[in-house]
Amino acid sequence: MASRDRDPRRAGAGLQGLVERFARLGVDPAVIGQPEQSPAPQPNRDALELAASRIPPLYQDAVANDPQVLAWVEHVKQAARRGPEGQLGIARARSLLLLGETGTGKTHQAYGAIRALLGAGVRLRWQAITSVTLHAMMRPRPGADPEREMRELERTPLLLVDDLGAGRASEFTEETTYRLINYRYEQQLPTILTSNITPAELSGLLGDRTASRLRQMCHKAVLAGPDRRRAPSF
Ligand SMILES: Nc1ncnc2c1ncn2[C@@H]1O[C@H](COP(=O)(O)OP(=O)(O)OP(=O)(O)O)[C@@H](O)[C@H]1O
Ligand SMILES: [Mg+2]
Repeated sequence: MASRDRDPRRAGAGLQGLVERFARLGVDPAVIGQPEQSPAPQPNRDALELAASRIPPLYQDAVANDPQVLAWVEHVKQAARRGPEGQLGIARARSLLLLGETGTGKTHQAYGAIRALLGAGVRLRWQAITSVTLHAMMRPRPGADPEREMRELERTPLLLVDDLGAGRASEFTEETTYRLINYRYEQQLPTILTSNITPAELSGLLGDRTASRLRQMCHKAVLAGPDRRRAPSF
């Protein structure tokens, strides 16, 4: 059966014609017939610059280099979802618990991890708070709406809670911490937590229920070494 389409000479001529038409339209003929490729995630420079303005100056150039922290960053990148425009957005993921003594670089690694995610093109809304500020925020203050502020922290896609367990512990601080951690635990929202307390002290200082949740939900990184702030002279 000699159909027009199956005549190899006609098919070749048709292709040649198509190539010439594409060339006239300024389209590189080399791309004709190639499968459409989804764009690879590009480093999100705008988001990184915007984020940099919210990162404390001391940590604006922080680069995460701890292997456990980098493993967690990879996990969150893998868990990230594609939105309707193909952009990567943060989704449910495990959390990161950064432990270590004073000055070992926990906050540096935490901001480094946030910068790494932003730099990898993961669009994320994030907030950072120290646990001392968290507890102060939850106390009744004129003109403030602690419940609304708590809801925002509970729901933010990525939350950094710095210095967990710092400050004087009380029933009130234990309850506030439990409430925030429990919400994020149930919703599987990624949270970065830093603390000077040891794994053995977790239950005693934060309460059994919070400690139990942290053990299950967190990827743990323990930083060792000297206090990086200590000047040789004192
Ligand atoms: N990997 C690093 N490279 C360069 N500087 C670092 C690094 N890690 C930490 N630093 C610097 O060392 C100092 C202490 O770091 P950081 O504040 O992160 O410690 P920390 O463990 O959070 O301390 P604390 O327990 O008191 O909160 C800071 O000045 C920080 O900029
Ligand atoms: Mg710190």
